[in-house]
Amino acid sequence: MSAEPKLIRALKGECFDQPPIWLMRQAGRYLPEYRAVREHAGGFLDLCYNPELAAKVTLQPIERFDFDAAILFSDILVIPDALGQSVRFEKGEGPVLEPVTPDSIEGLDVQLVLKKLDPVLQTVARVRADLASDKALLGFCGAPWTVATYMIGGRGSPDQAAARKFALREPQVFDRLIEVLVEASADYLVAQLQAGADAVQIFESWASNLDEVSFDRCVTAPNRRIVDRVRSKVPDALIIGFPRAAPGKLKDFVAGSGVNGVSLDQAVPLDWARDAVPETICVQGNLDPLRLVSGGEQMRERATEIVQALRGRPHIFNLGHGIVPETPPEHVAELVKTVRGA
Ligand code: CP3
Repeated sequence: MSAEPKLIRALKGECFDQPPIWLMRQAGRYLPEYRAVREHAGGFLDLCYNPELAAKVTLQPIERFDFDAAILFSDILVIPDALGQSVRFEKGEGPVLEPVTPDSIEGLDVQLVLKKLDPVLQTVARVRADLASDKALLGFCGAPWTVATYMIGGRGSPDQAAARKFALREPQVFDRLIEVLVEASADYLVAQLQAGADAVQIFESWASNLDEVSFDRCVTAPNRRIVDRVRSKVPDALIIGFPRAAPGKLKDFVAGSGVNGVSLDQAVPLDWARDAVPETICVQGNLDPLRLVSGGEQMRERATEIVQALRGRPHIFNLGHGIVPETPPEHVAELVKTVRGA
């Protein structure tokens, strides 16, 4: 029997008293069963490019918590890796990349991407085959600006200063880098949708720190170009945006990007968001991940408040940002129970 997943119905604009739930970074180190697979997979990227193991860890949180959606197990940095940049994940350090230069940007080849990422597309097909038809499968990519901050800076940074300076000092080279990322990311999302993803999310995790002119140039416009390019190939593609930590630009982002849904970080006040985001757009969020770490009454209370504040409009329950490794899995089970009983 096929039933359209609740999460897909919410993205299309349907309202539910108990919203569908999934959590950003729901597969990962807070789960002992993930750590067990990870230990034998080799490096982190080896796990991302191993369809059998990547499918297994994608499904682990669904098996344990019965979430309404699985999210493909991969990383936003597979795009620079597929473009030929050196990307390493160091233990305890996060990702380390060989920073791009104007010359190396000139040499980036979009044509390489889908070939290199074929194993990830195989993971999508495997998961869709193994996942119940009432559960959604989400694909994803990083947004061009967020991915560019790693490609230019060589690692994550609190203020993205290297990328911000590069964008201002080398505008033409920077725009070429963003265009390469728009094309590669859009083609990759189309391939994920064709392989079986039901919807996709574009993670703009580093959307803070840009002035309004740079935000439009680096965030809203490239997200829009990805949305348009994806829909030119998959006209009814469902797309969630996530301009994290830029509440002052949320309204412009939603209007300008063309997304079907928008993820809200925990700093966005819900009363304000209800007015800022049109009712036709599904909102997702916004429980503070540290409430989930801390658990108990404060978590249940805030989760219930979020469900009630967004009742009567399309809503997908989620966190304001990804699960952190210290999260006790029991708190996640308690959260799902709370949201389903709210
Ligand atoms: O959500 C999921 O469960 C699917 C998988 C997923 C991962 N990364 C797996 C991962 C997703 C959707 C991402 C997105 C991602 N990756 C983002 C955007 C979301 C966000 O959190 O802001 C960003 C900025 C990255 C880049 C990245 N990957 C960083 C900064 C790190 C190191 C920090 C960390 O959490 O370890 C990674 C590594 C990474 N990506 C891990 C996982 C499970 C941990 C690596 C390991 O197992 O050793």
